[in-house]
Amino acid sequence: MNAYRPITAAIDTAPLRDFVTRFADLIDRSRHQHEILATGSALLGQLIARDDWLPEAFAVPNPERYQQYLLHCDSRERFSVVSFVWGPGQATPVHDHRVWGLVGVLRGAERVQRYRRSEDGTIVAAGDEVLLEAGKVEAVGPDIGDIHRVANGREDGPSVSIHVYGGNIGAVERATYAADGTPKRFISGYANGVLPNIWDRSE
Ligand SMILES: [Fe+2]
Repeated sequence: MNAYRPITAAIDTAPLRDFVTRFADLIDRSRHQHEILATGSALLGQLIARDDWLPEAFAVPNPERYQQYLLHCDSRERFSVVSFVWGPGQATPVHDHRVWGLVGVLRGAERVQRYRRSEDGTIVAAGDEVLLEAGKVEAVGPDIGDIHRVANGREDGPSVSIHVYGGNIGAVERATYAADGTPKRFISGYANGVLPNIWDRSE
């Protein structure tokens, strides 16, 4: 299976279409980032409260590494929506985002450990690891804590989470961090070459 399979008409993509339309409205009318995060969390919570809208091609795990599939990018790159698909045992390196982000778990669970830069420049854990179960939403960003490590919260199967970022996240130049705080530049890109068609209203 791969992300280039034709998307069948069996999936109702209206929930994702409605989500991105409402999110664009939210960004149009918001003056402050905290408004986007507060109302955006509620919108993402509604989207992940149901699990019947994500085309299967964008929920396929890869045994080699976690997958980041682009589901939608705003035409002005003000926000992007991605599905993160985790196989058992898969995790990100410690990394930052440079833009705000919302993390919502659709299936399974996600383990999140936050980090902060200490006075000596090292990267140290900030608080305890959190297990985000399906239906839960968390925010990250330069103003509220931007460095974390994320992993599949399930030992025995895949997990899928839906993330929203304040930019075209696959194109943002950001960093991973070694334990001594040394940053390493990265641009994540996306695993898929085609996007889900959320604009067909013929059904
Ligand atoms: Fe992240």
